Amino acid sequence: MTVSKLPVHLAPLQGYTEAAYRNAHQIAFGGITTYYTPFVRLEKGNFRNKDVRDILPTNNRVEHLVPQLLANDLSKAESILALFIEHNYREVDINLGCPFPMIAKRHNGSGILPYPEEVKALLSIIEKHPDIDFTVKMRLGWEHPDECLALAEILNTLPLKHIAMHPRLGKQQYKGEVDLDGFAAFAEQCKHQLIYNGDIETIEDIERIQRQFPTLSGIMTGRGLLTNPALALEYTQGEKLSEEDYLKRLRELHKLVFEQYEKQIEGGDAQLLNKLKTFWEYLHPTIGNKNWKRINKSSSLDKYWQGVNQIDISSY
Ligand SMILES: Cc1cc2nc3c(=O)[nH]c(=O)nc-3n(C[C@H](O)[C@H](O)[C@H](O)COP(=O)(O)O)c2cc1C
Repeated sequence: MTVSKLPVHLAPLQGYTEAAYRNAHQIAFGGITTYYTPFVRLEKGNFRNKDVRDILPTNNRVEHLVPQLLANDLSKAESILALFIEHNYREVDINLGCPFPMIAKRHNGSGILPYPEEVKALLSIIEKHPDIDFTVKMRLGWEHPDECLALAEILNTLPLKHIAMHPRLGKQQYKGEVDLDGFAAFAEQCKHQLIYNGDIETIEDIERIQRQFPTLSGIMTGRGLLTNPALALEYTQGEKLSEEDYLKRLRELHKLVFEQYEKQIEGGDAQLLNKLKTFWEYLHPTIGNKNWKRINKSSSLDKYWQGVNQIDISSY
């Protein structure tokens, strides 16, 4: 029996999956049905410039982009939503998953999950804007995996397009194993289309999760795609890229990423170089130590490009 391919969503990662990366990724690799912006939040009542720049339609070229908001109450969520609406977005993702302690301790992200009344108040934004398609990205809980079960009733009554669930607890951050039993328990309660997110690194991982949860409506991958930018493309095409094709696309990706950050980063070459190198941390396992070291040690943009152009991978 042939199993149909699931749509693959790119998880938002602050500092990585910014417009530069998203635009470049769709051109060089693709295979992603939906890209999300890292969360936009209010800082002392104002937007951060970089957040606004990241959602501006003029800076974004991917076919399907959904901006994400992070807030701990309705009024902040409304302010952020107004920014998205001003820029013509009609789909919005709500972050109920961020585990960073500074964020979570104020009941943002996964920090709100133990408080159903606060979640209900925040998510009342959904019924106030019937013209907007809302989605939620969440974890099992902050402290305990039952927290999402206590929220299922609230979530089930809302007209959500989907829920993306990362089956870890906020207090775990990114440590430990994903809790597939916790995911299964939530899936049983959840009446919405459900997307699985967490530690998807290979095509086999996608297929294993799809076998285990046959009613899933999608897969979301973040770090796995930064490590292998071809992951979604290879999964949807059903075959691996040749080494030559892979490297050509990888160089194209980083040429495009470079071109956008070169315009954007004002602190000179050193700052630009630091930004570019952060992407190669994730690519380290894919390109191996020798190739990675050349890039990571580069002290100038010339040396950086030498490193990128010299990458030689016999297997990945
Ligand atoms: C550096 C970093 C930044 C992240 N930023 C966001 C964010 O802005 N919004 C969000 O919903 N999740 C964010 N996440 C969580 C990811 O979207 C994703 O849920 C998590 O990494 C698990 O998926 P993965 O194992 O496929 O990476 C971030 C994760 C990391 C490691």
